[in-house]
Amino acid sequence: MKRIAITGAAGLVGTGLRTQLLERGYGVHSLDVRPVAIEHPSETSAIADVTDQAALTRELEGCDTVVHLAACTTDAAWPEQVKLSMEGSISLFDAARSAGVKRVVYASSHHVVGLHPRAPHGPRMGNMAILRPDSRYAVGKAFGESIGALYAYKFGMPVLSIRIGNVNTRPIDRRRLGSWISFRDLAQLVVIGIEHEDLIFDVVYGISDASGRHYDNAAAYALGYVPQDRSEGLDDEVLRDDPPPALGSAAARAPSELTLGGMFSQAEFVGDSARLLTTHGNDAK
Ligand SMILES: NC(=O)c1ccc[n+]([C@@H]2O[C@H](COP(=O)([O-])OP(=O)(O)OC[C@H]3O[C@@H](n4cnc5c(N)ncnc54)[C@H](O)[C@@H]3O)[C@@H](O)[C@H]2O)c1
Repeated sequence: MKRIAITGAAGLVGTGLRTQLLERGYGVHSLDVRPVAIEHPSETSAIADVTDQAALTRELEGCDTVVHLAACTTDAAWPEQVKLSMEGSISLFDAARSAGVKRVVYASSHHVVGLHPRAPHGPRMGNMAILRPDSRYAVGKAFGESIGALYAYKFGMPVLSIRIGNVNTRPIDRRRLGSWISFRDLAQLVVIGIEHEDLIFDVVYGISDASGRHYDNAAAYALGYVPQDRSEGLDDEVLRDDPPPALGSAAARAPSELTLGGMFSQAEFVGDSARLLTTHGNDAK
């Protein structure tokens, strides 16, 4: 039985993912600064701070893969991003390497491209576009993707970076029709990260079947991803609660409306939103 460590295991994503991986026959070692209640015979847990590399290395020994979820999950000030998301990710990748962990699945976010225009204002976003993080939070996520590429190509440790959209039981608003992912679809992507024989380094979008909307998730499909859940058919229900703004209105020109990042793009935005509509040559690739 493969043993999978999960950092940030007590959080929203970790709680759902632990169950999904246990159901799929994996052993799970759940790590968090908060206690994790263990109910399954194949699960163990420990209190471990990802910024404490020595403790983390001890906990990762004997694990095949680590799923790295622990991060600063708000757009808090820089010191918190640097400590948790940046130093935490350096510590995690170093600890994984020292402990002989074979692979890392990294929880990135679609917010790394959040300041790009979203359809219909721009092309569907693939994984080759220039990054446009929409927040300090997203810069922390992009930093983790870079470390993943370094460890994959330099040290031969396969890494799958999943740019997670919004993990939920259903899409909660209009924008998230294009970025929603169910727990079972996220688990399927994580399993690809754990198992895919040809994986070196890849970046996929953590979305259910919503590829006709904002993201081109061809990289995930090429790795064998077959999402079980789709946002098609849910438009009427979502639009009833979240109708689009009137054409030409100030609301229609707001960064929250024009971009992939929504309210993360809107926060602290300065000046004319027209600059957000510029695209680069490789944005859609
Ligand atoms: N929830 C989503 O829809 C979503 C979307 C995109 C990306 N993500 C990413 O997925 C990951 C998990 O998100 P979440 O929604 O479960 O967040 P969450 O805030 O619910 O959980 C984060 C967990 O990390 C733990 N943690 C904090 N500091 C730690 C430290 N120093 N060491 C170890 N553990 C620590 C917290 O105690 C918490 O249990 C994050 O990296 C987040 O950026 C989530």
